[in-house]
Amino acid sequence: MENPIGIFDSGVGGLTVLKAIKKLLPMEQLIYLGDTARVPYGNKSKETIVRYSIENTNFLMQFNIKMLVIACNTSTAMGIEILRNMFQIPIIGVIEPGAKRAVEVTKNKRIGVIGTVATIKSKAYQNIIKSYERKAVIFAKPCPLFVPLVEEGLVKGPVAEAVVKMYLEGFKLKNIDTLVLGCTHYPLLKNTIQKFFDRKIQIVDSAEETAKIVKGVLEEKKLANVLKNENDMFFVTDAAERFLKVGKEIMKGALKEVRIAQVGK
Ligand code: DGL
Repeated sequence: MENPIGIFDSGVGGLTVLKAIKKLLPMEQLIYLGDTARVPYGNKSKETIVRYSIENTNFLMQFNIKMLVIACNTSTAMGIEILRNMFQIPIIGVIEPGAKRAVEVTKNKRIGVIGTVATIKSKAYQNIIKSYERKAVIFAKPCPLFVPLVEEGLVKGPVAEAVVKMYLEGFKLKNIDTLVLGCTHYPLLKNTIQKFFDRKIQIVDSAEETAKIVKGVLEEKKLANVLKNENDMFFVTDAAERFLKVGKEIMKGALKEVRIAQVGK
């Protein structure tokens, strides 16, 4: 089926998920929406996050998408069930895949989870990890300054290192062997985080696992595309130039043009 797959996030972070999907499913046409006018989502109320998520989905539905990937943990935590009830297409979130992966890789069952304030408060990761591994000991912490750092492209250097230290220092005393990056912006800080832990812990993000689930669902529902479609499209709700600058770092040559989307009008 040649219809595209719609993907949204509050900003550039979801490109980490898009990139993994593209790598695994090069035949699929992907349409990305970054809600840059309203980023960050993570410190807003559930009601607002759900409203933004519905509006983003409505925008993507105009392209007759065959599947939606919520490449945002905050929107997944607050709204995946609501979106699934409202829209009659398969909807994939990013929390379940990352939580499952963390349980697969941990050896001592001591797992750190970081995400936005809304994601951590929702306990979505904590509950899913526990459902897979009853004995898991979970240490969760919101890291609200990570999203603006990433949106600014400040993913390494003294400022990023200081903020990483401020948020993650406490984990060093907890003897965790696995840290889940429960926000799609955070993989862009992966090197700085790994350096902070002297590369001694496993860092899990949802991108690759989510891509595998997307592939599985496309196959199961016979929705996969057979002819290669390279016309991926990228939309933002504001400041396209800024998105392009940071997005190019992530996507390299695959991101050339960014258009402005009218969302929620
Ligand atoms: N990238 C998003 C997430 O995974 C949202 C970050 C934000 O806008 O606060 O949660």
